[in-house]
Amino acid sequence: MTEQPAPENPEGDEPIKQRKNGLYPAVSDELAENMKSGWADTELHDLRPIPQAQETARRRAELSARFPGERLVIPAGNLKTRSNDTEYAFRASTEYAYLTGDQTQDGVLVLEPTADGHDATLYLLPRSNRENGEFWLDGMGELWVGRRYSLTEGERLYGLPCADVRELAGALAKATGPVRAVRGHDAGIEAALTDKVTAERDEELRIFISEQRLVKDAFEVGELQKAVDSTIRGFEDVVKVLDKAEATSERYIEGTFFLRARVEGNDIGYGSICAAGPHATTLHWVRNDGPVRSGELLLLDAGVETHTLYTADVTRTLPINGTYTELQRKIYDAVYEAQEAGIAAVKPGAKFRDFHDASQRVLAEKLVEWGLVEGPVERVVELGLQRRWTLHGTGHMLGMDVHDCAVARTEAYVDGVLEPGMVLTVEPGLYFQADDLTVPEEYRGIGVRIEDDILVTEDGNRNLSAALPRTSSDVEAWMARLKG
Ligand code: GLY
Ligand code: MN
Ligand code: MN
Repeated sequence: MTEQPAPENPEGDEPIKQRKNGLYPAVSDELAENMKSGWADTELHDLRPIPQAQETARRRAELSARFPGERLVIPAGNLKTRSNDTEYAFRASTEYAYLTGDQTQDGVLVLEPTADGHDATLYLLPRSNRENGEFWLDGMGELWVGRRYSLTEGERLYGLPCADVRELAGALAKATGPVRAVRGHDAGIEAALTDKVTAERDEELRIFISEQRLVKDAFEVGELQKAVDSTIRGFEDVVKVLDKAEATSERYIEGTFFLRARVEGNDIGYGSICAAGPHATTLHWVRNDGPVRSGELLLLDAGVETHTLYTADVTRTLPINGTYTELQRKIYDAVYEAQEAGIAAVKPGAKFRDFHDASQRVLAEKLVEWGLVEGPVERVVELGLQRRWTLHGTGHMLGMDVHDCAVARTEAYVDGVLEPGMVLTVEPGLYFQADDLTVPEEYRGIGVRIEDDILVTEDGNRNLSAALPRTSSDVEAWMARLKG
């Protein structure tokens, strides 16, 4: 990577930020003058609005109606340092992207109260100034980080007025009247609002947006289906390279899935869990640095995030050599049965907890049947004794965040009722730790999870990830076909 040149007293009224200097010769007056001109006008005049512009407008209208008379501030967030002068890939805050469709770093949506609602403005970094050298001398100049949309282009794309974000903090600091902000994304904006906001009132704003996202609209369901479809292709990619993973490590699986995510989507929606052998019993195994061995299982839990930031969350537990052993199949089929029971409990009007209870009951029955815990099943379920091996909840809302709507109130989510348009995972599992002395030795080190993404429909549900085989025999046939 190249370091940036050091400007010498660049002309213009905007200060030039320098992240590094001293490694390059100073910029002569002649060069500075030369760089100001000779550039074509590249303004894009034929931009069409983003496809979800109507939906984002509706979401802002809902937000406006909930908080009349208050200024609402929703930042996209800033780059985060990885080390020295390198940063992590930017990912806009879910709240900002949900309400605008934009994903620009440092962007801020502001809803300004009016007599009959709010005026929304999108504050963005404009095109780089060429007069003062910013575009090539500033680390955030377009010559370094790429072209941005002009404010006029932003208005065409997002369907709301755009303004220069560099003026926002000053304006907010001077503003009067009630304000709420989504916290945790933009320290500069928060600093400008320090005396005007309270944590409790800000949290109400965050909760409202989280609950807005519980029911997905048609655009969102379409995006989730795209995320799932790409994810399925990523799983196929992995099966095709299992021999290479055996020759290297779980990292080969991680890298293979990541390639699909980056080529077809924005990124992975969460750290891929590529857990071979006993690593499958670690719920969030993301180190992915272990061996991949024939005869063992691979638990792959991964999801592609689309360009609009919707993620899939899918798990399959695959026999690395293509065929389950008798015990692996017995455990896999039990988890499958539990997942079937869970999926059957997903329908409008059902309690959110119902699918969890249905899956847990099946798993408890199996554990009793196998003699791993003493019955009766009712007692096991009542005391939660199966949880030594089932460990986690059976699913969660899915959307722009893998654990979506995470700050929704308990009564709206965990203690709530399912509605058409909700999308959730159903993901029971059984995990026998390698050091669990309470189970026969042959069980130890086996972990199985099956996870699908389920849309609640008017009359039941639709499995968005149904195209990926789920039964043990279908998984084997699918693997045999892919491995050729
Ligand atoms: N991938 C994390 C989860 O399944 O919730
Ligand atoms: Mn999940
Ligand atoms: Mn998962």
